[in-house]
Amino acid sequence: MKVLVIGGGGREHTIVWKLSQSRHVDKIYCTPGNAGISEIAECIDIGSDNFNALLDFVKYEWIDLTIVGPEDPLSRGIVDAFEKEGRRILGPNREAAQLESSKVFAKDFMKRYRIPTAEYRVFTSYVHAKDYVNMKVAPLVIKADGLAAGKGVFVCRTVDEATDALRLIIKEKAFGDAGNRVVVEECISGEEASFMVFTDGKSVVPMASSQDHKRVFDNDEGPNTGGMGAYSPAPVITKAMEDKIMEKVMWPVMKGLRSEGIEFKGILYAGLMIKDDNPYVLEFNCRLGDPETQPVLSRLETDLVEISFGILDEKLSDLEIRWKPEVAVCVVLASKGYPGTYEKGKVITGLEKIRGEDDTFVFHAGTVFNDSKVVTSGGRVLGVTALGNDIREAKERAYKAIDKIHFDGMHYRKDIADRALERL
Ligand code: AMP
Ligand code: GLY
Repeated sequence: MKVLVIGGGGREHTIVWKLSQSRHVDKIYCTPGNAGISEIAECIDIGSDNFNALLDFVKYEWIDLTIVGPEDPLSRGIVDAFEKEGRRILGPNREAAQLESSKVFAKDFMKRYRIPTAEYRVFTSYVHAKDYVNMKVAPLVIKADGLAAGKGVFVCRTVDEATDALRLIIKEKAFGDAGNRVVVEECISGEEASFMVFTDGKSVVPMASSQDHKRVFDNDEGPNTGGMGAYSPAPVITKAMEDKIMEKVMWPVMKGLRSEGIEFKGILYAGLMIKDDNPYVLEFNCRLGDPETQPVLSRLETDLVEISFGILDEKLSDLEIRWKPEVAVCVVLASKGYPGTYEKGKVITGLEKIRGEDDTFVFHAGTVFNDSKVVTSGGRVLGVTALGNDIREAKERAYKAIDKIHFDGMHYRKDIADRALERL
């Protein structure tokens, strides 16, 4: 069969890599893809917002399955557009994707179904929000309602910082209409973890747990990024905690959606804070996490095409989804300046030295070919991912591979997975 993957980051390289191992797949297309993806898939260049052109391509090439990586096309209704034309596509429809595309929708939804999350208030007026914040005790978290590429959330240590964030979002419109409404919420302290599930709307199957590293520098310092590394599993998600998350979060979400007549098929991601042995939802995403996908799918044994059709045909419960016992660590190599403005076009060397290793994979994110050389083209450039029998071994392998790679301005965190090591 033929599969089209939409996106061009590390998550999508990992999806394409996993699909390339499927006995059902003859040909993979990816739009826009990147240098690494182009070695295993044919990269095309159709904008992810151009649903008509994508549909034309899918019809013309007889594509059997489309998998959507990022949230943007999902929140704009790509699944609705494809389903209207009878095309198979993995991901939630526009209505269901509001769990990610509107923080107000997600918070109100959680309140309706008593899903544990931080206390919050919603504001449209700067003055009212500021008055409220002035009555509260810091720390506080300020969130723009809509999608802001992970940049619309401010964890504020003081009331002044919170006021600055409100000004930026509401008055200066730093995120455009995404900031028309603002959520002010209580700050929860604890340990973060990412918990993703596959769901066909009826069954909910947990994926291996993982933990992201959002801050740019070691020891969780510096500004937030899209994610500087991840490992799987996350020791904080014990079997008992997984059961708790399913009971307190995932099942209530699915039941709530169903009772409101909203169908959700695809991947639901809960960004959690674990506090006093209880999970609190910080955010929902309606897609695979990036970089969590790199270590998580590296550990997936079951065929991703079979899982995709299990979801689409509502037969997920017939499948046994298996994970490798090994653990996986992914370290992101970023461009100088990231997460601010960054340089591009730097030649990447050393990739050939890692090729062919069974337990180490270099997933590309912001890379392109230029004169047959691989050069940087994004903030997050590569996700060096290694499997190991334990976290120490996986970490060592990942960093050993990184020693062989170079590009001007390359920076990365040296402490990915240390939190898991501390728990040993
Ligand atoms: P979000 O996009 O909502 O996950 O927020 C991005 C990051 O901000 C999270 O990964 C957390 O590190 C932090 N964060 C969000 N909400 C809260 C909260 N209520 N309490 C503490 N930290 C939070
Ligand atoms: N790594 C967090 C996300 O994918 O949103």
